[in-house]
Amino acid sequence: MKRIVAIDGPAGAGKSTVAKIVAERLGYTYIDTGAMYRAVAWKTLRHDGAVTDAAILHAVRDIDVQLSAVSGTLHVTVDGTDVTGEIRSPEVTHIVSRVAALGPVREKMVELQRAMAASGKVVMDGRDIATNVLPNADVKVFLSASVEERARRRCKEMQAKGYDVDLDELQKEIAARDKQDRERAISPLRKADDAVLIDSTGLSIEAVVERILELCA
Ligand code: DC
Repeated sequence: MKRIVAIDGPAGAGKSTVAKIVAERLGYTYIDTGAMYRAVAWKTLRHDGAVTDAAILHAVRDIDVQLSAVSGTLHVTVDGTDVTGEIRSPEVTHIVSRVAALGPVREKMVELQRAMAASGKVVMDGRDIATNVLPNADVKVFLSASVEERARRRCKEMQAKGYDVDLDELQKEIAARDKQDRERAISPLRKADDAVLIDSTGLSIEAVVERILELCA
């Protein structure tokens, strides 16, 4: 049985949904690294004033980010405050790619992520897990889907949480975030050479989960 599963891909490809189920089925811990960058973005926004690189670096300096599973839901705390819901807000989403592009932010998060994976039995999802965080992962998946499909999924998800969102706007935001994540200088979003590509456009969640479990067998 493989012990470390890395799932990378662009926003809205279904990574967190399938990674969580795969982790449950394997009895592994699920680690959502995007939530950690969102936590830094959340803390940056707590301070009054403009979002500058200096403000982001100040927020990350002594941040305490904790991920924990409570009744099957992943909870995120920042310096002791539960921010599970707030890190999904449009305000956080709007600045998170910029936050995640800064070297000192990535260094700190990658260090935490490696420590979380040290004892194995983890499913970790993000953008640079197979290429940078855990290059020795046993299973590497690059999960993608068309931008239209990804925007539709995010739209449903946000509406279910009570946000008033516009599909066209969301598609533009996702495309812009992809571009920023793919073109940044440090650890850009890309498929590792040895990762298996799964295009989830038109596939059910269960079909994607089954495919990944086959790779883990
Ligand atoms: O998966 P998500 O939308 O919650 O990710 C939030 C942002 O964090 C996204 O813009 C990309 C960035 N990210 C990253 O740079 N590296 C990771 N390993 C995970 C997320």
